[in-house]
Amino acid sequence: MSPSNNATAPWPAEAPAPPPFVFDDGAAYELMIGRWSALVAQPFLDWLALPHGLAWLDDGCGDGSFTQSLVLHRHPASVVGVDPAPAQLNFARQRVATASVRFMEGDAQALPLPDASVDAAVMALVLFFLPDPPQGVRELVRVVKAGGTIAAYHWDLAGGGFPLQPILDAVHAEGYRSQPPPSAWTATLQASEHLWQNAGLSDVQTRQFEVSRAFESFDEYWRTAHGSPRLRELFATLSSTAMQRLRACARERIGSAEDGPLVLKAKANGVKGVKRWGAAIRQGLASLETPLSHLPFPRDTDRAAADHGACFSSPRQAPIATALPRRHRRRATRRRGAASSAA
Ligand SMILES: C[S@@+](CC[C@H](N)C(=O)[O-])C[C@H]1O[C@@H](n2cnc3c(N)ncnc32)[C@H](O)[C@@H]1O
Repeated sequence: MSPSNNATAPWPAEAPAPPPFVFDDGAAYELMIGRWSALVAQPFLDWLALPHGLAWLDDGCGDGSFTQSLVLHRHPASVVGVDPAPAQLNFARQRVATASVRFMEGDAQALPLPDASVDAAVMALVLFFLPDPPQGVRELVRVVKAGGTIAAYHWDLAGGGFPLQPILDAVHAEGYRSQPPPSAWTATLQASEHLWQNAGLSDVQTRQFEVSRAFESFDEYWRTAHGSPRLRELFATLSSTAMQRLRACARERIGSAEDGPLVLKAKANGVKGVKRWGAAIRQGLASLETPLSHLPFPRDTDRAAADHGACFSSPRQAPIATALPRRHRRRATRRRGAASSAA
């Protein structure tokens, strides 16, 4: 698949804002992207290397493609799938009908979940659809427990990694417009890394995943594009001659024969990070009703101590004397000395 600059900015600035993407057909989505997503899900889950038996959030779960891979490969204790599209959720509910998995309607920017309620959270092919991606990441941080993993993957849009890129390229070559996702900029490895770091996550890592999908024929691939919210509307406006021209243009770009099997590639950019203990402590302090001035240390000291403790992957690994600033470390050592001489 060749890189395309059109992938992220074909929508002219002077045009009215495009309507939001609506995923209103779970079965069509499954043929178009769900199957591709499942191909990324397995190596992505291997890369996360998390144990079985965790409580997961599948944020923007769509038709349950990633949820199903999660259940098969990571045997979770529980999964909550959240998505705003009822059609996707209906498909997901039929597909992953397991007591430990529940699906809820909701928005990634205001998740319908309590603070610190899951061990791990994933956004599979979702971040670039959010109008406010940093808010989406903040929500993931809020609902994950301290020490938990927050991860995502998105098509490498700027690098030509979107599975329907050859068709999008043909659309643009024929002089039509296609609507990019509202936050396509988030899909690079660098942007993902910045978003994760700016959210205060530790151990941030990125990695690209390349996957291949086999089709019986070009036609099978071409038909999957009809499930795309962004292409479906354009196709509906074209004459059959224009559609034939577009189809031929896409086939030529791929270099595929009219008949016979073909294998196409796609690339997804993955990012993962860990919620710091310091962030969790701050979250806890912020929710305390007692004014912080009633606590033994002044507020800025608590914050510094919490940040210092964030270097440790478990609170048990963070001995209190080193988790405190030097001033308080001296005080703690003096107190400990006094206690041991009293004993
Ligand atoms: C490309 S699909 C990904 C679905 C699934 N995660 C997968 O891997 O196949 C994008 C999904 O994001 C959902 N979505 C769009 N805006 C969202 C938002 N604000 N909050 C949560 N999900 C959203 C869509 O409804 C759609 O199901």
